[in-house]
Amino acid sequence: PYPAYSQLREMDPVHQVRFPDGQLGWLVTRYEDAVEVLKDPRFIKDISKLYDGSMDQMSVFTQNMLFSDPPDHKRLRGLAQKAFTPKLIAGMRNHIQEIADGLLDPLSDRSSINLIDEFAFPLPIIVICEILGVPVEDRDKFRLWSNSLIEGTSGEIGASMFDHMNQFIQYLGQWFAKVREHPGDDLISQLIAAEEEGDRLTEKELYGVVSLLIIAGHETTVNLIGNTILALLEFPEQQNLLREHPEMIPQALEESLRYNGPVEFSTSRWASEALELNGKQIRPGDLVVVSLNAANHDPAKFKNPELFDITREKSPHLAFGMGIHFCLGAPLARLEGEIAIASLLERFPDMQLNIDKSELEWRPGMIVRGVKEIPLSIQ
Ligand code: HEM
Repeated sequence: PYPAYSQLREMDPVHQVRFPDGQLGWLVTRYEDAVEVLKDPRFIKDISKLYDGSMDQMSVFTQNMLFSDPPDHKRLRGLAQKAFTPKLIAGMRNHIQEIADGLLDPLSDRSSINLIDEFAFPLPIIVICEILGVPVEDRDKFRLWSNSLIEGTSGEIGASMFDHMNQFIQYLGQWFAKVREHPGDDLISQLIAAEEEGDRLTEKELYGVVSLLIIAGHETTVNLIGNTILALLEFPEQQNLLREHPEMIPQALEESLRYNGPVEFSTSRWASEALELNGKQIRPGDLVVVSLNAANHDPAKFKNPELFDITREKSPHLAFGMGIHFCLGAPLARLEGEIAIASLLERFPDMQLNIDKSELEWRPGMIVRGVKEIPLSIQ
């Protein structure tokens, strides 16, 4: 699905570009180079180097592990990590299945459904709201705010984005005040306890970590579910194989992450010193962006990369990143994806796309890779 990337990968794998905000940078499309950038600590993430004073409102959203370097990174990741260990996540299986069933039961006698709005979006957002301890009923607000932030930062930065950001910050402030009075055993209560202890988390970082988890906790998994269903519809023989062998679902999800991963680009990194990358001279302060999907289609690493092939074994794809920023939510995303795909295949043996593939509307922006809606006929 990525012809432009093939050309870049061959002709100019570390390609100089001008990003929408005017900054010069480099776009990396080969697998080996991508790994080098993601693992090399000389590429740093502290976003204060990107935004000047006019973007102060944004800084709350970047005081978190994704936009920090060691030693802050370790401290911030450590505070959230306890809630996402593989063991803890595995213990959520039955509950996540119940949520999935609760969403799918009312759809069962319908002839068509909107996969994103009615299932792929609510499932992960309900789960992340519960982990954090924020009201599930407010999920549409979180969706509006996080869509606005994700699409806004990669396209036009309009006034409405700042309005939404202010609303998001105000909402979190009011919610934190409630939790300070009546703490529970959720993650926000634990983070607030760490903040009140003094040197483990600042107030700004509390906003930063919680907003990151709300955004990262659902924007991506929605598209893992959506993109996997699209791939299974595009390759019916693979769908049949999976229906015959549902035990292959985890493997099929890995292939979907490789074939059409929900995160298009890793977040930006900056060179902290002059260095060379595949023959190009990178200057200190240069912005470097890795296309995870381009790397995942590199024929030097994956045989027949344009084929969606669920029999691929142990795929070393980069859809969750690599190195110290490797996705904290990977075990959760994999479990949600597995339950979602298993439930959809089981309930809807005859699902078909209700519109022509060419009519699918891909979401704007450079961060997420997913469609706005997937209308399916289910019987
Ligand atoms: C980091 C992808 C789901 C939380 C990342 C990164 C990628 C990624 C590529 C690294 C970005 C970089 O290095 O610039 C995905 C994909 C997901 C997914 C494809 C779903 C299929 C989730 C979920 C959570 C989550 C469900 C929620 C809890 C995070 C956090 C980080 C992160 C907190 C930052 C980690 C750090 O900086 O140490 N994710 N993610 N992600 N992800 Fe995910």
